[in-house]
Amino acid sequence: MGGHLNIVIRGTGASVPDHVITNDHFASYLDTSDEWILSRTGIKERRKIADDKTVLDLALEASRLALEDAKMTPDELDLIMVCTATPETQVPATACWLQHELGISGENGIGTFDLSAACSGFIYGLVFASNIIQGGNYKNVLVVGAETLSRITDSQDRSTAILFGDGAGAAIISRSEDPEQGILYNELGADGSRAKAIWMPAGGSRDPASIRTVNERLHNLRMNGREVYKFAVLKMQQLIVEALERTGHVADDLAMIIPHQSNRRIMDSARERVNLPPEKMAVNIDRYGNTSSASVIMAFDEARRDGRLKAGDLVLIVAFGAGVTWGSALIRL
Ligand code: ACO
Repeated sequence: MGGHLNIVIRGTGASVPDHVITNDHFASYLDTSDEWILSRTGIKERRKIADDKTVLDLALEASRLALEDAKMTPDELDLIMVCTATPETQVPATACWLQHELGISGENGIGTFDLSAACSGFIYGLVFASNIIQGGNYKNVLVVGAETLSRITDSQDRSTAILFGDGAGAAIISRSEDPEQGILYNELGADGSRAKAIWMPAGGSRDPASIRTVNERLHNLRMNGREVYKFAVLKMQQLIVEALERTGHVADDLAMIIPHQSNRRIMDSARERVNLPPEKMAVNIDRYGNTSSASVIMAFDEARRDGRLKAGDLVLIVAFGAGVTWGSALIRL
């Protein structure tokens, strides 16, 4: 929990691969159907990265668009943070590759690092960036949520293969001169006792890659969908209610709520808990599936660009993800 962080989201951008994967694609080789997937998750299609592209390509395009939107050049950045569960490489951080691609690497290069909080990643990143800026030593921080979940999803597992999509979003967070602007309230949390609810068993130092781990398909996400679902429904509702209650706001004050795009039913139950009309909730899960750390910033970027969000609006972003982790931020734009 934290007090007012006086920041402004100065620019945003998003990027998805061109290749569309429909529900019928999965129905062609798995025991599933378009009807099942759409009614249980709200997903119609998702994007998949081409074999010769990587998460860095998505992060770079989203970052360039965010810089353009903020009318800034890369050399005005102080710090780069990439929130991802599917990094370009285990070592070094995706943010180091991104810094170089942005043309600002070198002996006096700015600090760069990756942040691992799965689907809550962007909210963790935004809150950290804002606290760092509030500290006074940094002015402009690039926060990216970028994922290629298709690279770690088991195409033969019908309960996860259908859920995830690839994409990236980026935001430039800067110090604000307007005392009303910024993050009015935030909450970050985690429950490590639920680590195996969504996890990738091998590939870390616990069980490094070997012929055995590849043969046993241990480099893919494993998920207990039912456990995650039950936890997420309650947590998302609780995060929204607490953010409003603790700041003395009511749902009508919100221009929009932007939830992590995990499952349309989880999102709707959170929205209905505070009687918010459907048009006030950002939705991109129908077109992009669950893009993990990218989902919130991709939806935020879309709402800004099509005019649903503007300066002065109050917006609530909420997410949960592997860890399990969760986060919320009530923002005055
Ligand atoms: N097509 C048809 N049937 C399916 C499919 C599918 N694609 N997937 C699962 N089923 C089956 C199950 O096998 C089960 O069959 P059974 O009763 O014979 O065992 C049946 O459907 C019901 O399973 P449930 O898990 O209860 O189905 P549910 O309605 O909950 O939907 C889903 C499954 C969509 C995975 C849901 O549990 C969910 O969305 N969970 C949350 C996942 C999530 O939000 N993850 C986010 C975090 S991810 C991250 O941080 C990277």
